[in-house]
Amino acid sequence: MKGSHATQLAVASVLASFALGASAADSIKVGFMLPYSGTYTALGNAIENGFRQYVDEQGGKLGGLVVEYVRVDDESAPAKATDNINKLINRDKVDVVVGTVHSGVAMAMAKVAKDTGTLMIDPNAGADAVTGPMCAPNIFRSSFSNWQPAYAMGIVAAKQGYKRAVTITWDYAAGKESVNGFKEAFTKGGGKVEKDLTLPFPQVEFQALLTEIASIKPDVVYTFFAGGGAVKFVKDYAAAGLKNTVPLVGAGFLTDGTLDAQGEAAQGLLTTLHYADGLNTPKDNQFRLTYAKTYKMQPDVYAMQGYDAAQILGIGLAATKGDKTKRDVLVKAIEKAKIDSPRGVFTLSSSHNPVQDIYLRKVEGKVNQVQGVAVKALADPGRGCRM
Ligand code: PHB
Repeated sequence: MKGSHATQLAVASVLASFALGASAADSIKVGFMLPYSGTYTALGNAIENGFRQYVDEQGGKLGGLVVEYVRVDDESAPAKATDNINKLINRDKVDVVVGTVHSGVAMAMAKVAKDTGTLMIDPNAGADAVTGPMCAPNIFRSSFSNWQPAYAMGIVAAKQGYKRAVTITWDYAAGKESVNGFKEAFTKGGGKVEKDLTLPFPQVEFQALLTEIASIKPDVVYTFFAGGGAVKFVKDYAAAGLKNTVPLVGAGFLTDGTLDAQGEAAQGLLTTLHYADGLNTPKDNQFRLTYAKTYKMQPDVYAMQGYDAAQILGIGLAATKGDKTKRDVLVKAIEKAKIDSPRGVFTLSSSHNPVQDIYLRKVEGKVNQVQGVAVKALADPGRGCRM
């Protein structure tokens, strides 16, 4: 008995050191911290799909390192975020955290990433603070700041001649910052926001607020909703009879990845975003074709952001030739990269947020058809970032 126990221990320790050696030297462990439940489930899945697609296109390796994955469902729950990211860092020993969708969760993640120096790539959450006051050399974003698409829509709405706006969104960082971005440009362009309507995330009981919009009769309604909530909002807006009387505009999340479910209710809606259908570039066509073949569905903005999160990591690791200890080399390479994204080529600002074109899109059937560039090479102001 004793002998066999000792043998088991020896085998176990050989296996453990092999596993450790493989993980430490020849592979890179990516921790996905994403919503795999709740109103943002589809967004989390699309991000993971896009990330894996890029890695698979590189033969499963970045910078010569085999990519391994672990995942945690963050439930879009800010209260659980610190525990969740600490699990990835301390229990799973990930080399990089890729997350997340929800701004409140992302801010909690950024704090831990900054405090521990863990490499973090934010593949969606727009929280202005992540590339503002919380910015850090080890934190990058492949998506957008909440300010960016909203600011572009403020310009578009003012140019359309709208004067009186009402805003409606969820009462959390993303909604508030999106509304602020819209307001900044819309008021600069001569418009006025008469009322800001909100409801708690992720509630979808819109009736009372829609009644209020009908009684105010503004020239335009600006909104930030996404995922399952966006599907319900667009349908309820049309069902309330508002669609033909008060134009609805928004950050493009309102109609991205949602059109199958929104159907007729979404037709004709104008939104602004750093991605669109019909870009028809070789890079985007190839991305979309591979995604459709692999996952049996169309890609959306979230899939694209996941793909680019992997590209960003790949650029950094290629520069270090897979040496994970050369953090400065990795950071410098990403900072000066021109990233060949399906959205178009972009660079990162000094606060590590994409400097990118914001497209104007119109819902036509099942697509957000590009109408043109609303704002070229728009950079988030990065307010409060000191690196
Ligand atoms: C956010 O919380 O920052 C957020 C969530 C969903 C989106 C966009 C932004 O589609």
